[in-house]
Amino acid sequence: MANQILLTGGTGFIGSHTAVELMSQGYEVIIVDDLSNSELKTLKSIERITGKKPKFYQADIRQYELINAIFKENKITGIIHFAAKKAVGESVEQPVMYYDININSMINLLKLMAAYQVQPIVFSSSCTVYGQPSILPVTEATPFLPAESPYGNTKQIGETILRDSTAANKNINAISLRYFNPVGAHESGLIGELPIGVPANLIPFITQTAAGLRQELKIFGGDYNTPDGTAIRDYIHVVDLAKAHVVAIDRMLNAKQAKRYEFFNIGTGKGSSVLEVIQSFEKMTKVKVPYRIVDRRPGDIVEIYADTSLANQVLDWKSLLNLDEMMRSAWQWQLNLGK
Ligand code: UFG
Repeated sequence: MANQILLTGGTGFIGSHTAVELMSQGYEVIIVDDLSNSELKTLKSIERITGKKPKFYQADIRQYELINAIFKENKITGIIHFAAKKAVGESVEQPVMYYDININSMINLLKLMAAYQVQPIVFSSSCTVYGQPSILPVTEATPFLPAESPYGNTKQIGETILRDSTAANKNINAISLRYFNPVGAHESGLIGELPIGVPANLIPFITQTAAGLRQELKIFGGDYNTPDGTAIRDYIHVVDLAKAHVVAIDRMLNAKQAKRYEFFNIGTGKGSSVLEVIQSFEKMTKVKVPYRIVDRRPGDIVEIYADTSLANQVLDWKSLLNLDEMMRSAWQWQLNLGK
């Protein structure tokens, strides 16, 4: 029987792309999502891409009894836990909501893993756990800095809970993937990022501005100590990122994992400035992005990019798609959204 993988938050941006990659590798996918930041029609898109329909439950992972029933009903063999709130600014305004959702969902999953003897879990962590590292590229050996936001704190706490739980319970294995900046969309143009309201992140703001939905892009800070003065991030194509989850779950299911808790940087290893991102977008799409440089955004770091050698060596995973491809696919997705 095929392995059944539970994807919490599986209709979201990264979850939907991971569902596609898992299903194309022969995994069966069970999605649980409360649809608070995603849409039901994503299921149809996943089916159109893969030819198969993932099983779906609408539920909040904090609803223990509902999730318990899902475990009872299925033979779940692994979990990939995406479901979480992810907006840095919102987390500063509503910290209790962030701690409630992001931490309690993790705790429920760990209780259910113990009850149903589910061994592997992959956790969506973030490069935000490093803050502004003093040495770049940042390796996994870099210690956490005090979190800049409640959101970032929930990622640090989530990793700590997994470290402690795997140390105490030898039937649980975990891998945290520290995502850098996930962007782009599936080549089919059928799934991508669906920002609600005004996008807080750079790429959806660029595509919406190029589409004429926003007047101009505000570049937050042009006076950073970087070659062109704008901040630098490690943008990673969401399809490459999705594939890292498949490799991680496969590693745990097939007992290839050396330690019961592992964590990996998932980026390209290449930093790009905001202006370089815009240049790549304009080159690939031939569409101009009107922009203006404004003040720095509070809480932003200057520069971060990943040392990905650990994931390259241990997971045998490597990003394949470059910034141009990220911009091309993000634009294709934006155009399809308007149809
Ligand atoms: N930016 C702009 N204008 C915008 C939006 C963003 O100039 O309208 C700039 C930001 O200042 C930053 C870069 O584009 O320099 C990337 O910003 P994003 O908001 O797209 O991404 P962040 O790097 O701020 O945040 C991302 C994730 C978070 C995660 C964080 C970790 O969205 O979930 O990386 O560093 F916590």
